[in-house]
Amino acid sequence: MTTRVANRKPAAKKGTAAKKKAIKSKASKRRDGGPDTDKSKLYASLVVQLLSLLKGEHDFIANAANFSALLFNSLPNVNWAGFYFLHDDELVLGPFQGNPACVRIPMGKGVCGVAAQQCETIIVPNVHEFPGHIACDVASNSEIVVPLFDGERLLGVLDLDSPIIGRFDDQDAEGLNELATVFVAHEEGLGV
Ligand code: SME
Repeated sequence: MTTRVANRKPAAKKGTAAKKKAIKSKASKRRDGGPDTDKSKLYASLVVQLLSLLKGEHDFIANAANFSALLFNSLPNVNWAGFYFLHDDELVLGPFQGNPACVRIPMGKGVCGVAAQQCETIIVPNVHEFPGHIACDVASNSEIVVPLFDGERLLGVLDLDSPIIGRFDDQDAEGLNELATVFVAHEEGLGV
């Protein structure tokens, strides 16, 4: 099963039949029905830390590298965190933490390429069930990909992998989208 979280961005293009089976997930809830407050606090803390890392620094690569390191070292059970940026209609590997990864991903290919093409955050609870998933690290079992936008322009995607099946939920999607928004807002005007 794949979960998609609509972004506030351009209309999504049509996907393949298999990928259309994806459903939007319900909001993540604890057994008591409430939100996971620990996760909310973690993402709130990460926003503060990211702002601190970005403050006064306008080198895009340095900021993206520090952002990926912050995520990799702060979020539990993550074995890869990093960026793919859009260059000439394909995604090209950017700063990341984790094992070496595939460098180029065509639009519409893999989880990253589909998220970029559909302009949607995609949560994949089990990557082995995602048609066309690109395996960069055999340890990865679940994944979340968040498209990055400068206004209406797609910049690329933020990609996180986990060895835990079902590691990512709607709170992660919400938290990562907020962090991505903070990051892009800081970088706006750099001509990336
Ligand atoms: N699994 C991704 C490829 C990138 S790696 O996970 C770092 C995908 O299917 O697009």
